Amino acid sequence: MGKILVTGGLGFIGSHTVVELLEKGEEVLVADNLSNSSMDVLEGIKKITGKNSDFVNVDLADFEKSRTIFESNEIDSIIHFAASKAVGESVEKPLLYYRNNLNSMINMLELSREFKVGKFVFSSSCTVYGEPDQLPVSEQTPVKKAESPYGNTKQIGEEIIIDFVKSHPKLKAISLRYFNPIGAHDTALIGELPLGVPANLVPYITQTAAGIRESLSVFGGDYNTPDGTCIRDYIHVVDLANAHIIALDHCDRMEESYDYFNVGTGSGTSVLEVINSFEKVSDQKLNYEIKDRRPGDVEKTYADTTKANSILGWKAERDLDNMMATAWKWQQTL
Ligand code: WQD
Repeated sequence: MGKILVTGGLGFIGSHTVVELLEKGEEVLVADNLSNSSMDVLEGIKKITGKNSDFVNVDLADFEKSRTIFESNEIDSIIHFAASKAVGESVEKPLLYYRNNLNSMINMLELSREFKVGKFVFSSSCTVYGEPDQLPVSEQTPVKKAESPYGNTKQIGEEIIIDFVKSHPKLKAISLRYFNPIGAHDTALIGELPLGVPANLVPYITQTAAGIRESLSVFGGDYNTPDGTCIRDYIHVVDLANAHIIALDHCDRMEESYDYFNVGTGSGTSVLEVINSFEKVSDQKLNYEIKDRRPGDVEKTYADTTKANSILGWKAERDLDNMMATAWKWQQTL
């Protein structure tokens, strides 16, 4: 029985997935280049699970360095999280994103062929849908031109996998299209660790409440939504982590070589509703102001999760208050 290679395994979603894998008794090897994470996360995983996960610090965009992983470990499956993921940065540095995100993907697939890896789960994103014409967004919703190089690397990543498994059907692959992952592990030993000023809503909220940030700017209060603020499908990171485990198991059952699933809660939540939930669970008022819209923001999106519910037998279990409570508990440890 070989190991499950989790690339980007010290990142936000990767680390929560490693915890769930270890708690299910799986043999895990974490590969991470520490560009957006730290070894403290590995410590947190060990404290939660009582288990050591093997770790290798490697740049997966470097083929020869990546190859050494497979020469010294028997790898059965890969869950591929490793990617640069800041939307704004991808607009400023597109080539860094294409080189890092696509080269690491290509290397993992090439090495899967050479070392007979059987299963591959890819961290994709709802950004592939852009501003959807219909809601909720199902897997049949047409993919639109990505609004950022980051989103484009997810779209191209999916297409690379599709073309690869056509040439190498021995590999079973699944793309999971995440909506908005938030929250943290119940133990508050791991969670989201944004570098610098958070681009995402929830870490900005918790840092404002912690006094690290002065005030939250709500980007736009004049959208065509019930309270004027943008709507998203926020999903607890632990629910999302479990979707990867279930997807890996599904690779053993699925007939076709490739499939893809939306991973969200199926319900839309506005920015103001997120703030209200935070104020309720933290029992404190949040300092925020309604400001101008953020360019590139989608007005509203939320998932149709019927396919993951029926085919994977997976459904998100945690509600918004739990997402905000765990995010706040984690922030208070930082
Ligand atoms: C959510 C809402 C903002 C910050 C991004 C990526 C996506 C995925 C998740 C990686 C929007 C509003 C935000 C703030 C605000 N990442 N907001 N004030 O943009 O939906 O998705 O993160 O896979 O690919 O695009 O998430 O958290 O940035 O924004 O009002 O300080 O919160 O306008 O409506 P987004 P987000």
